[in-house]
Amino acid sequence: MTTIIDGKQVAASVIDAVKAAARNLEQEAGVKTGLAVVIVGDDPASHAYVSSKSRMAKECGFASIQHTLPEETTQEELAALVQTLNADETVHGILVQLPLPKHLNSEPIIQSILPEKDVDGLHVVNAGKLATGDLDGGLISCTPAGSMVLVRGVHGEDLSGLNAVVIGRSNLFGKPMGALLLNANATVTMAHSRTKDLAAVCRNADILVAAVGRPQMVKADWVKPGATVIDVGINRVPAPDKGEGKSRLVGDVAYEECAKIAGAITPVPGGVGPMTIAMLMANTAIAAYRKSG
Ligand code: GUN
Repeated sequence: MTTIIDGKQVAASVIDAVKAAARNLEQEAGVKTGLAVVIVGDDPASHAYVSSKSRMAKECGFASIQHTLPEETTQEELAALVQTLNADETVHGILVQLPLPKHLNSEPIIQSILPEKDVDGLHVVNAGKLATGDLDGGLISCTPAGSMVLVRGVHGEDLSGLNAVVIGRSNLFGKPMGALLLNANATVTMAHSRTKDLAAVCRNADILVAAVGRPQMVKADWVKPGATVIDVGINRVPAPDKGEGKSRLVGDVAYEECAKIAGAITPVPGGVGPMTIAMLMANTAIAAYRKSG
């Protein structure tokens, strides 16, 4: 029987722990955990993500501050806002939603966030701590951290002897995911668009993690029987069967066929997605504790 990994349920237990931590910090130290979320421009998908982050922050008992800036915001204006948030003692976590509009350069903005407030884990200090195996000193990027919680739910803490394949090498996901798996003693292969015979590489994986942004690219014959499949993709595709102009969300994995081969698999939606927001809340609680606890 294939285990369908219930990301919603795992995320709910992370959120419960975050709520308790926020309550504690407020009662013991009089500190309200603060998360600032910055969004620039009108991209509807980004607005939807940011609204759910802000809503969840409030549910956790945080002070949630959303800064919605117009499309024509300049690099200097955005940089100035980050400096203000860096200096604000009531703000423990800062998240600048990506992608930014094309005329803005995201890298200097991300690197100007104080590492201790970088709840996205994208600052080079945080990326460097993860890369050097300092998992407790920095803040870890939310989607890989959440994916790793799901992997541990299946395999436990120690992945010795297991082959892990990550498809995708982004700074936001692939690289930190590879580092987390390596830290847990997995034998890690980083695959990407230039990898030769990707299907054969994937068939070697005991843990297969797909983050490519290509709808249903991973097919059943890419999956080793019994493997754990973590699908990080969120792709909106047309769904004419639901009616004219309708769409549905699918992952990077052809779920129905791969679920027949895998030992455990995350659905889309309801797998990795809820974990990302939960880990953002956890990172914010950690940042607040380090500052005040
Ligand atoms: N856009 C899509 N995913 C993310 C994320 O994890 N963090 C930020 N800041 N922007 C995103």
